[in-house]
Amino acid sequence: MIYYKEEVTSTNDWAKECSEMESGTVFTALRQTKGKGRRGRNWVSDENGLWMSILLKPDFSDVSIITLAAGLSVKKTLGDTAFIKWPNDIVMSSKKVCGILTEAVADNGRVNYAVCGIGVNLNNKSFDGDISDIATSVYIETGKVADREEILKGITDNFNDYYNLIAMHGFEAIRDEYKKACITLGKDVKIVSATGEYVAYASDIDSSGELIVLKDGEEICVRSGEVSVRGLFGYGK
Ligand code: BTN
Repeated sequence: MIYYKEEVTSTNDWAKECSEMESGTVFTALRQTKGKGRRGRNWVSDENGLWMSILLKPDFSDVSIITLAAGLSVKKTLGDTAFIKWPNDIVMSSKKVCGILTEAVADNGRVNYAVCGIGVNLNNKSFDGDISDIATSVYIETGKVADREEILKGITDNFNDYYNLIAMHGFEAIRDEYKKACITLGKDVKIVSATGEYVAYASDIDSSGELIVLKDGEEICVRSGEVSVRGLFGYGK
């Protein structure tokens, strides 16, 4: 079931308020007045985008793989010119077109439910100031007005497929496809964590969806959520 409102604070918060509903329920709004990004950032959410959240009741505890499945769903919907910047951004022409924020509500270490929020810049004609170097929209990239309904349906259908796969077999079930779509791999990246930053070579994504980097010949496993991964030559480069 897909619910729609013209304006909400955040579709993630709306989904949480409806947590008694069934897993797979989708919440979407034309505008968000308090759209949330990762790391407590504000997410600008005017009527140029697609703002949606999916309520989920997973039997598995590693909810970070939900973000990876959502990323692959968006990439598949947007097509060949879209790529995934591990773990949770979709880029076109090395600029961010979509961000994903998965929030889990747990009780005694068990996930009660999770909300996977997906924000896609659809029909922005331009972006202001500094953000224009790192943000893009489907319209800017394709020259065509994006149909919100069509993209919503594409992402929802693709997500159902990928979610069923990971729910049954874990991230391994979508790993090969994810790796093909991931522009982070095969590059030197800057890993920024709470304890400092370093440059390393992104070599692989393991069977649980973690990024493997090589630094001074040593393999380091990078967990999503703990770090920010940046290209060395700009946001997605
Ligand atoms: C990020 O890249 O920082 C994540 C952005 C996530 C934005 C989406 S829009 C729909 C959902 N509702 C929110 O308040 N945030 C997510």
